[in-house]
Amino acid sequence: MLTESAASPRTAPVVARTPEELAGLRPRLGHVALVPTMGALHIGHRSLIATGREHADSVVASIFVNPLQFGPNEDYGRYPRDFDADFAVCAEEGVDVVYAPSVEVMYPGEQIVTVSPGRMGEVLEGASRPGHFAGVLTVVNKLFNMVQPDIALFGQKDAQQLAVIRRMVRDLSMPITVMGGATVRDADGLATSSRNVYLSPDERESALALSRALLSGADASARGPVGIVGAARAVLDEAARATPPVELDYLVLVDPQSFTEVADDYRGDAVLAVAARVGATRLIDNVPLTL
Ligand code: PAJ
Repeated sequence: MLTESAASPRTAPVVARTPEELAGLRPRLGHVALVPTMGALHIGHRSLIATGREHADSVVASIFVNPLQFGPNEDYGRYPRDFDADFAVCAEEGVDVVYAPSVEVMYPGEQIVTVSPGRMGEVLEGASRPGHFAGVLTVVNKLFNMVQPDIALFGQKDAQQLAVIRRMVRDLSMPITVMGGATVRDADGLATSSRNVYLSPDERESALALSRALLSGADASARGPVGIVGAARAVLDEAARATPPVELDYLVLVDPQSFTEVADDYRGDAVLAVAARVGATRLIDNVPLTL
């Protein structure tokens, strides 16, 4: 949209660092799709950007490693940061505006008021990472207010995050359409993630058990919730004895909207979700199913 005409070559993205710079650009952007990210961009992020381009005049990609969503013992300090590489990805994918604020710009003072995910923030990822979803919702809300997007795109890879954000938009009447993007995987099945760079070759090999377990569960979908979870658990039990071991945090079949566990006789849409630690790296994955 910031290009002069459809025939002219694509121009490099404009970089905005402050809400004021964004506000100056906003009138020229038309319908905006926002793709919030923490950088270390990979093919999962690329697919969200590509979908955004199909549905809006302009794409704004935000790059901000959000301190509010990391626990005290998590990887905030060592999270991969490479603005030049991320900018190059955004340019290749035809992003119009890269919004990359500093921590001081996003959080100029103490963040006293935050957005609560309610009980959706207390289960699964929320149980393992107290305060995580309040941190996510707060930063996403701030980004929505700064960018004023018409559409916002989030990956199914973080299925609970997507569900909690959809719920925030609904419960707080935000005039934004949330779109989900299918999980992108490497050829070996591992869901692409900025955190995969932490894995040694051996750890990566062990980590493949997550996607194998989900596939096994999906193959058993005709057998109902107990059969699905049992099939996936068998793969993870074996992976727990591998070297290095896969240390399971949770494996559950949940309702895709509420993220509560489904009953044994459940029929309908569901998400089979898994979280595990391999070495020092915590990984999550999931597969949507219809029972
Ligand atoms: P980040 O982990 O950078 O992810 C940004 C977006 O990319 C999220 O919506 C995530 O679900 C999506 N994504 C990541 N891996 C994917 C994959 N393999 N396939 C498809 N989509 C994928 O998620 C966050 O950042 C942050 O919590 C954020 C929403 C930006 C708030 O700080």
